[in-house]
Parts: sequence; C-alpha cells; structure tokens
Amino acid sequence: MMDVQKLEETARELVAPGKGILAADESFGTIGKRFEAVGIESSEESRRAYREMLFTTEGIGEFLSGVILFEETLRQETSDGTPMPEVLKSAGVIPGIKVDKSTVDLPLSEGEKFTQGLDGLGERLPEYRDLGARFTKWRAVITIGDGIPTKKCIDANARALALYAAFCQDHDLVPIVEPEVLIDGDHSIERSYEVTEWTLHTTFDHLHEHGVEFSGMLLKPNMVISGKDAPEQAGVEEVARATVECLLRCVPAAVPGIVFLSGGQTDLQATAHLNAMNSLYEGLPWELSFSYARALQGQPMEIWGGDAGNVGAAQKAFHHRAKMNSAARSGSYSEDMEAA
Ligand code: 13P
Repeated sequence: MMDVQKLEETARELVAPGKGILAADESFGTIGKRFEAVGIESSEESRRAYREMLFTTEGIGEFLSGVILFEETLRQETSDGTPMPEVLKSAGVIPGIKVDKSTVDLPLSEGEKFTQGLDGLGERLPEYRDLGARFTKWRAVITIGDGIPTKKCIDANARALALYAAFCQDHDLVPIVEPEVLIDGDHSIERSYEVTEWTLHTTFDHLHEHGVEFSGMLLKPNMVISGKDAPEQAGVEEVARATVECLLRCVPAAVPGIVFLSGGQTDLQATAHLNAMNSLYEGLPWELSFSYARALQGQPMEIWGGDAGNVGAAQKAFHHRAKMNSAARSGSYSEDMEAA
C-alpha cells in the first residue's frame, strides 16, 4: 500500500525553495546525438565520466534537489568506486530514474509517438528503489502539425502516464508525469496553449481515474511557447503569462510542484521564462521549478568535450547555470548575473 505521507514529503523536497532538478537521463540514442554534436564519442566509459563530472561539482546540492538518471548510470560508479546514487546522496541530492522505454511511432497515425515501458514496470521498480532511487520519470511526446495531435494519441499517452504513475506510487516512488508538447514546428503560441491545455486536462483525467494521489506526484510540462520555426516569437512575459494561465486551468492545487522541461529553448530563455513566472505571480498553488536537461548541460558538455583536463572549467559552467536557475525559482534572476 502506498505511503501517501512519504510520497508527499519526497515530492515537496524535490521542489524545495531555491532548488530544482537536473535531468541527466538521456537514453543511449539521445546522449549519442548530444555527444556527437560536440565531438564526443559515446561509450559506457565516456557516459560515466561525463556524468561523474556533473555530479561531483562542488556545491550543487545548494541548487539541485534531485537528479534523474538513466538506468545505466544508476548502476555505475565514480572513478574512486562510489556508486553514482551515493555520490548524489552525499551532496544532498535525491536520485531518481527514468523508467519509460522511449517512444515508438503511434501505429496507424502518421507523425505521432507513443511512449512504451509498462510491461514489467511493477517488477523493475523495487530494484530501482534498492539501488537508491526515490522518484521516477516517464515522458510522453505530443507533436503539433497538420491535423495532429489526434485525440487517440493524447488519450493513449495520457493513459500510459496514469498507469505509470499508479505503479510508482504503489511502490512508494514519486512519479514525475511528463507530457511534453513539442516546440518543433511553426505553430503560434495560441496553438501551443490549446494543445497543452487539452493534453493536461486529459492527463489529469486519467490520473484521477487510476487513483493517483496528486499530492505525491510532480508534473513536468512544456512551457506554452511559440513553435521553434514560427515567424513571430512570443516574448518572455507573454510566454510566462500564457504558461501560468494555462496551468491554472488544468493542474489541481494538490500537486506540490510543476517542474518544467527546457524542450529546446536556449539556456538563457529557459532561465528567463521561469524567472518571469515566479516574479509575475505570487501565491500560486504549486511551486514552479525546473527539471532541465539541455538548458543545464549544453555549455558544460561542450566545454568538457570528453577531456579530463576540462573537468574544472565544465563544472564551473554547470555550477553557474544551476545557480542562475536557482535564482529564477524566486524571481530574483537578472541577466546581469550571467556576467558575474
Ligand atoms: P530538456 O530540458 O532538454 O527538454 O529535457 C528534459 C527532459 O528530461 C526530457 O525528458
């Protein structure tokens, strides 16, 4: 039986003031692409060394409440033989794990994706717990395009998210429910709003139907934002307002926190948008925080470049980015801080 109090405590710890989550759970395919773009060869050892660089950055526990790991990393050790989850715990950071098995093409629906990984999930979870994980993540992908998304795509993904969350709570692991409406395309911010609202309503409908306890989960949504290739790009304040207004209409107040994905925004945009939301609104029912992958790792990965000699400089860049996003948690970030 689920321990609601424990789930809620962990969920609240993950959205503690001034702290957010690092998503370092790139699958083999994704980390391969990111590494290739900056000239790093992807191997078990390079992935291990890269993640050791991130996790051993001095003082990150001040800005990070949790790190989402890929299953491979959960079982790896640092060069001095310490298990990765232990390294995080000693830094005051909660280890989590991505438990979905990535997307496949949604059958009979051109251009849409379905996230798999439910088979055997209930058997995998106790082992992840034993290895030190206290929370999990599942990402669903919704694409905007000609005639898409379809209702069947949103329904299928929302149902899978709800089942995933129910399995996790049943094993006392806090689920991070991530229905990502992609930034790819030339759609307007209004279209992003419409699709995000539809997706979130459907997701919470299914979560409720499956008995998921809202106080013991976190939501990881996209921001409501112009498509990457849209001719007109909404400004920072417009994105912040559209996002919060959309969330106010869809997300129950019992959910302790909303931890955004960066989704292809630049590092500075992702920080500025979160900062604007937290400075424009007071007294929101949930914490507004971050769970960024690309917007926290872009620079450090490029600086590291697979070379042990660059660890110090890469860690400095990572520390800085985490600190900027920590400031955005309270709306106290400004662009002048980037130079400091
Ligand atoms: P981005 O911040 O790069 O969008 O990644 C977040 C994430 O974990 C996607 O699943």
